[in-house]
Amino acid sequence: MSQKPLIIALSKGRILKDTLPLLKEAGIEMTEDPSASRKLIFDTTREDVKIIVIRATDVPPYVQHGGADIGVAGKDVLMEHGAEGLFEPLDLEIARCKLMVAALKDAPPVSGRLRVATKFVNVAKSYFAQQGRQAEVIKLYGAMELAPLVGLADRIVDIVDTGNTLRANGLEPTEMIATISSRVVVNRASMKTRHSQIQEILDQVAKAVAARR
Ligand code: ADP
Ligand code: PRP
Ligand code: MG
Repeated sequence: MSQKPLIIALSKGRILKDTLPLLKEAGIEMTEDPSASRKLIFDTTREDVKIIVIRATDVPPYVQHGGADIGVAGKDVLMEHGAEGLFEPLDLEIARCKLMVAALKDAPPVSGRLRVATKFVNVAKSYFAQQGRQAEVIKLYGAMELAPLVGLADRIVDIVDTGNTLRANGLEPTEMIATISSRVVVNRASMKTRHSQIQEILDQVAKAVAARR
């Protein structure tokens, strides 16, 4: 076993909640409740593994640049960040949702340039470019659903699960960009230098995912 612990990056909220039961199948459990702590790095029941808890959008850069060996991130976040320097060996089939375009209910079609508010700027730009539609993309960090209500944008690109958030704000989905679930990502160098340690964890987690189907 190598000296340095293996670091797994998770994000607060649904990814942490839904990933921990899968890691448990690989013998990895947190020894402390992260929601009751200000700590950012946590011991686990395996001495060779630590878990860091960071923002969802920080998981790809942490893993890409070696701050973590393994991470779990939504496909939406991975699409937005780009896949450079990352292996994506496993779909955990958790945090399932859709990345969609939405508009005010019964909004008329827009002629000319669409104004699109989103936190997924790269995804939105390439989606509308691919469609041959002119779009001005406005970067927001949250509450995208508000933008059409106050005239900030004609469309939003956002995560939709039940559709409740759209409905509650008088919006409706208009186009589907991608179906989303959370993926395991692995640092490319770690995948080589710590192959057996990582592969063993991936195999056990994959088995747990398959057992749920
Ligand atoms: P954040 O604080 O970044 O919004 P979340 O825990 O809400 O973090 O989202 C993490 C990931 O879970 C997202 O990248 C997406 O893939 C997925 N997700 C987001 N919202 C939902 C939802 N309402 N239902 C299911 N999955 C979701
Ligand atoms: C997510 C997403 C949407 C909502 C969609 O928000 O940003 O707003 O879920 O889910 P729905 O279709 O079931 O309503 P989240 O609950 O993660 O809150 P957040 O704003 O804190 O990210
Ligand atoms: Mg969220």
